[in-house]
Amino acid sequence: MKKLKLQILASLLAGLALTACDDAPSASTGRSRAEDAPLDRKLDPAQVARGQRVYTQHCLECHGVAGTGQPGDWRIRDADGMFPPPPLDDSAHAWHHPTAVLLDVLRDGSPQGQGKMPGWKDKLTEQEMQDVVVYIKSLWSDPVYQLWRKVERQSLEE
Ligand code: HEC
Repeated sequence: MKKLKLQILASLLAGLALTACDDAPSASTGRSRAEDAPLDRKLDPAQVARGQRVYTQHCLECHGVAGTGQPGDWRIRDADGMFPPPPLDDSAHAWHHPTAVLLDVLRDGSPQGQGKMPGWKDKLTEQEMQDVVVYIKSLWSDPVYQLWRKVERQSLEE
């Protein structure tokens, strides 16, 4: 059963990667009125505002205004063989991760230190890290947020 779930997750993620990396899915086609209504994400506006302050102070210089990243292709390694800071909005890869994985990346930085994302666990409080993750989620469009919710749900069922 667990194996099956993992397979489903893998194929879901593979499918998402194909649609997500070039164009974020469009909200417009063939949806009912109810689906077109803005999604209630239950994100706390005060927490989003706190997260934005953390982001502006610590993350913006690398990940760009509102998570738009750096000029150039975030999928192409730099001269040191490392990936540049990717966008954190819904144009790149961040939304493929459940909350727990986003928080791990924040706490510890690039996996095994093999990248240029610094770890934040000694510089930010747990609350600040959670706030900034909520701010990042607030940058995603409704259709992408819906897809992310599936990823989150799958990760919690494992
Ligand atoms: C010195 C530049 C730099 C700073 C400052 C920085 N990052 Fe990063 N970040 C990176 C790089 C480079 C990567 C890609 C890591 C890799 O390839 O291992 C990354 C990756 C990430 C990812 C994973 C994205 C994905 O698509 O999987 C998240 C989430 C993230 N950063 C959030 C943040 C947050 C939040 C802050 C502020 C608290 C921050 N970063 C500050 C450089 C930076």
